[in-house]
Amino acid sequence: MGKKTVSSMNKNKEKRQARKLEQRRIADGMAHVTKANKLEDLASLCKELLVYKSNDLDVDMYIQRVTELDKNVLQWAIDLTERNMKSLYETCAWGWNRDRKIEEMTDDSAWYLIAKDNKDKLLAFSHFRFDMDFGDPVLYCYEVQVESDGRRRGLGQRVLRVLERVAHATRMRCVRLTALTHNPSASAFFRACGYSLDDTSPPKEEANHYEILSKSTCMEDDGDTQPHNTT
Ligand SMILES: CC(C)(COP(=O)(O)OP(=O)(O)OC[C@H]1O[C@@H](n2cnc3c(N)ncnc32)[C@H](O)[C@@H]1OP(=O)(O)O)[C@@H](O)C(=O)NCCC(=O)NCCS
Repeated sequence: MGKKTVSSMNKNKEKRQARKLEQRRIADGMAHVTKANKLEDLASLCKELLVYKSNDLDVDMYIQRVTELDKNVLQWAIDLTERNMKSLYETCAWGWNRDRKIEEMTDDSAWYLIAKDNKDKLLAFSHFRFDMDFGDPVLYCYEVQVESDGRRRGLGQRVLRVLERVAHATRMRCVRLTALTHNPSASAFFRACGYSLDDTSPPKEEANHYEILSKSTCMEDDGDTQPHNTT
């Protein structure tokens, strides 16, 4: 049996306080996630970004929960994901499993940002969720997919800007995503949009086919690094 010294008592007090602060931070984060998931009108948080006119594109975007999404639009999103990603998944440890992807994309917590042109042609989408991830409230971007004839015209970047604005407005800490390391165009795209390696990314020895990237919501206001002239 030892006698507690003043210094060890102070250390214990500090530890207790740090634990309490951490618990409070997580509880606050969870409250923000719950609140974000209950919002009825995410579009009102980013209205001016939902119209995109640039490089011969005239695009309107809308945001819906998966449960509200038109079945044909959801089917298009699944098919586009398969067209864009199947071969990339097949050449890594994940493999391609259409049913598993459909299950992920139709989870009740999924939100969709859909972009279509002025002739109602579907051009791009993002599947995202508000979630706690490693103790942080985040907007997790599960997919950003652009039709091949809509690419390199700033649309993907605009989609991410919408997500960043929504994440900022709902008090998420960052937009976080998982990217395949053998998808160099996506890697160049995310980096051009200001995303960098997240602290939660696994070390290369553990997983070298994917990495976790993120962009802090503090950067939302000054994150306007547009490569294109946009409205
Ligand atoms: C990756 C993807 C979403 C990019 O969308 P996009 O609308 O073409 O991208 P943007 O036009 O907004 O590009 C913004 C910037 O990102 C960079 N970039 C985008 N695509 C790139 C590519 N293929 N190679 C190198 N840099 C690229 C460029 O710096 C570009 O600016 P610039 O055109 O002025 O040079 C799109 O190519 C795509 O859907 N690919 C297939 C699916 C995929 O890989 N999704 C991501 C993983 S979920």
